[in-house]
Amino acid sequence: MITRSMLTLASVLLSLCLAGGAAADGPERVPPVKDPVVLKECGGCHMAFQPAFLPAASWRAMMKGLSGHFGEDASLPPDKVKQIEAYLVRGAGRDTTDGAPLRITELRWWKREHDASEVPPDRWKDPKVASKANCPACHLAADQGNYEEEGERHEGERKKHHEEDGDDD
Ligand code: HEC
Ligand code: HEC
Repeated sequence: MITRSMLTLASVLLSLCLAGGAAADGPERVPPVKDPVVLKECGGCHMAFQPAFLPAASWRAMMKGLSGHFGEDASLPPDKVKQIEAYLVRGAGRDTTDGAPLRITELRWWKREHDASEVPPDRWKDPKVASKANCPACHLAADQGNYEEEGERHEGERKKHHEEDGDDD
C-alpha cells in the first residue's frame, strides 16, 4: 500500500518535472560506469563520465584521439582502446543534433541546465569547482550516475527509488 501511494506521488513529481522542461533532455539518472578498466583508465584525471551522456559517434571520435585529449596525453594500448570504446559505444546516448561533440558540457541541454538561472556565475569561480567538467563538485552522487539534484539541495528519496525501477531511456 505504501509502495503504491509512493509510486503515484513519484510519478506526479516526475511528470511535473518533465512538464517543467528540466528533465526534457537532461537525464536525471544514467547508468553508472561499472567496468573496472574504464573506471581505472578514464577515471584517473576526472570522474569516469557515463557513456549515456554522449552519442556513439562522440565516443568513437574521442577514442581515436587519446594522444591529444583536451591537451593531455591519455593514450592507451590498442587492446584497451578497443575494449573501452566498445563499452562506451554500448552505453552511448542517443544521437543529438549537436553532431559528435567531445564535450558533454557543450551539449545544448547541458548548457541550458547550467545557465545563469540555474548556476550563479560565481559558482564556476569557486576553486572547488574549477571546471564545468567537474560534475561531482556539485552533483555529489555523480559517480553513481545520479544528477537529480545538486548536493546541498538533495531531497526526494521517493523519486529516486521510483526511477531505479523505471529506467526510462
Ligand atoms: C591524462 C588525464 C586524462 C585521462 C587519462 C582521461 N582524460 Fe578525459 N579529460 C582530461 C582533461 C584534462 C579534460 C578537460 C577537462 C576540463 O575541461 O576541465 C578531459 C575531458 C574529458 C571529457 C569532456 C568533459 C566535458 O567537458 O564535457 C570527456 C567526455 C572525457 N574526458 C572522457 C575521457 C575518457 C572516455 C577517458 C578514457 C579513455 C578519459 N577521458 C581519460 C584528462 C584525461
Ligand atoms: C557548479 C555546479 C555544477 C557542475 C560543476 C555541474 N552541474 Fe549539473 N547541474 C547543476 C545545477 C545547479 C543544475 C540544475 C538544478 C538541478 O536540477 O539540480 C544541474 C543540472 C544537471 C542535470 C539535469 C538534472 C535534472 O534534474 O534534470 C544534469 C544531467 C547534469 N546537471 C549533469 C552534469 C554533468 C554531466 C556535469 C559535468 C560534466 C555537471 N552537471 C556539472 C550544477 C552543476
